[in-house]
Amino acid sequence: MSNLLEHFYCSYQVTKSPPQKNTYQNTTNMKNIAVIGAGTMGNGIAHTFAQFGYNVQLIDISQASLDRGLATITKNLDRMVAKEKISEDDKNNTLNNITTYTSIKDGVQNTSLVVEAATENVDLKLKIFKDLDEVCAEETILATNTSSISITQIAAATNRPEKVIGMHFMNPVPIMKLVEIIRGYNTSDEVMEFTVDLTKKINKVPVEVNDYPGFVANRILMPMINESIETLYNGVAGVAEIDTVMKLGMAHPMGPLQLADFIGLDVCLSILNVMYDGFKNPKYAPCPLLVNMVMAGKLGVKSGEGFYDYSESRKAEKVAKMFS
Ligand SMILES: NC(=O)c1ccc[n+]([C@@H]2O[C@H](COP(=O)([O-])OP(=O)(O)OC[C@H]3O[C@@H](n4cnc5c(N)ncnc54)[C@H](O)[C@@H]3O)[C@@H](O)[C@H]2O)c1
Repeated sequence: MSNLLEHFYCSYQVTKSPPQKNTYQNTTNMKNIAVIGAGTMGNGIAHTFAQFGYNVQLIDISQASLDRGLATITKNLDRMVAKEKISEDDKNNTLNNITTYTSIKDGVQNTSLVVEAATENVDLKLKIFKDLDEVCAEETILATNTSSISITQIAAATNRPEKVIGMHFMNPVPIMKLVEIIRGYNTSDEVMEFTVDLTKKINKVPVEVNDYPGFVANRILMPMINESIETLYNGVAGVAEIDTVMKLGMAHPMGPLQLADFIGLDVCLSILNVMYDGFKNPKYAPCPLLVNMVMAGKLGVKSGEGFYDYSESRKAEKVAKMFS
């Protein structure tokens, strides 16, 4: 990240958003929401809005991706029915509230809000937001679920930066309560209020944060994960030992190395790099072991091996051969 941008981040706190005209609908009247990306996060976000009665227009690049997303939503709803958390009718109503599209232009028609949850890639997101700005109604609010990319940079790809905001849902979306709401440099107070209000309406807890690299969740989580990898790299303790210390000693539900495997080691590396570039501070420098593992294709659960071996089960039962 350039020095100019660093200067920009530093001056952020003392600069107020420009006044905006209040053209968006309130969250009570709003019915249609578009979700871009039907992957891990997009299908969870679509599921959640649909369960709360919103019409969701789910968009992905291929029908196959949309079908996979819908299959995951159905499987997760079935699980909720089996646990008697929702009824069979609730399940069917939720599914009926979701319509799928392979074109952004068609999928965003008549929506008050678009939540983008496409692949974490700066150029892709800038292109999507530029396109959205062209095809969405003037009053449509554009939210992104990015884990690490600057909301302000994404907003700058549009002519409506005051209507661009971060809505950082946690995985798995239907279960996790937190949504980090990230205010970009130009995000208006009205759009902030709208997003906070909507988040409460889907029974989640919004936490307002400013647009600095890593926001809050990853700024705190990723250095912990990185330090646990450094601890392993320095030979202080083994994989199972490090995770056991954090589970039993700090009451974490899963150890940091197991959590890194679940998030994806490539995702952890990319978030650390965003913070390292953004703050120019060596404390965020990714551990060389993490860099090597990503280059070797050991990405965690999704590749079948990370710190643990997932070839027989998705549970972290067996430490990977490299570390055992
Ligand atoms: N996975 C997590 O735990 C997690 C948590 C919080 C936030 N996020 C963020 O959520 C976003 C999505 O992550 P994910 O884990 O769901 O990724 P994913 O790879 O599971 O899904 C991404 C989806 O986006 C689709 N896509 C790609 N380009 C597209 C385009 N031009 N138009 C429409 N769809 C497109 C892909 O086909 C894919 O289905 C990322 O920004 C990520 O940083 C992820």
